Amino acid sequence: MMVVLLGPPGAGKGTHADAIRSGFGVPHVSTGDMLRAAIEAGTPSGRKAKELVERGELVPDDLMAEMVRDRLSDKDASTGFILDGYPRNLDQARDLDGMLATRGAALDRVLSLVVDDEEIVRRLSGRRTCEECGAPYHVVSAPPKIAGTCDRCGGPLAQRADDRPDVIEHRIAVYRAQTEPLVAFYRERGLLAEVDATGSLGAVRQRVVGALR
Ligand code: AP5
Repeated sequence: MMVVLLGPPGAGKGTHADAIRSGFGVPHVSTGDMLRAAIEAGTPSGRKAKELVERGELVPDDLMAEMVRDRLSDKDASTGFILDGYPRNLDQARDLDGMLATRGAALDRVLSLVVDDEEIVRRLSGRRTCEECGAPYHVVSAPPKIAGTCDRCGGPLAQRADDRPDVIEHRIAVYRAQTEPLVAFYRERGLLAEVDATGSLGAVRQRVVGALR
């Protein structure tokens, strides 16, 4: 199963990919998580990306293509993946097609999670993420059992540097201008399923799973 999750910041891409990956037996590949790990580790790619990510700008396509190509060549992604955060523009979509073509594969499905801007701001301003394992939480809609502590691994929860109000607004604008055109691109190719990403986490998860089956 080779799947792309599209959607604006805060649509729930990470939350749902993380929740369903084991049921489908494929890894959740998040370019945002990969970039944050590279920034944290201070790798050359991380140093190049740091300022752009913190400002909500897109990282250059060539750097992203190299990162994604490497990750998709790992053994656990050989038969499938849930790709979250990539592609983010038409050039990246073509790069992804090329990567898959070299292994004689192609995307099976693209899910577009639909949510309005007001809800995005509400979600991102309350989001917390585990610093150890990356598990996602929300202070109101998905709180941990013990405040500030990850249910899964006991690690500390933190707010992302790009979840400041001014950066959230810019990330939404970048999504609408650069990434949203991919919805039409994949619709024309018959790969797209649009999923209403509002409502409870359980209700959205059911819609996501339904769109993948
Ligand atoms: P990335 O990490 O991909 O960020 P994003 O696309 O902005 O998406 P988010 O992670 O903010 O949101 P999400 O949809 O995963 O929502 P989540 O599940 O966490 O990218 C970060 C940056 O890296 C980019 O800005 C860019 O700089 C760079 N980058 C990454 N990929 C790139 C690429 N391909 N090219 C160039 N640059 C790239 O949910 C959000 C919150 O809402 C959580 O708290 C969750 O609990 C809550 N929530 C979710 N669903 C619900 C619900 N139904 N009801 C109530 N609360 C909910």
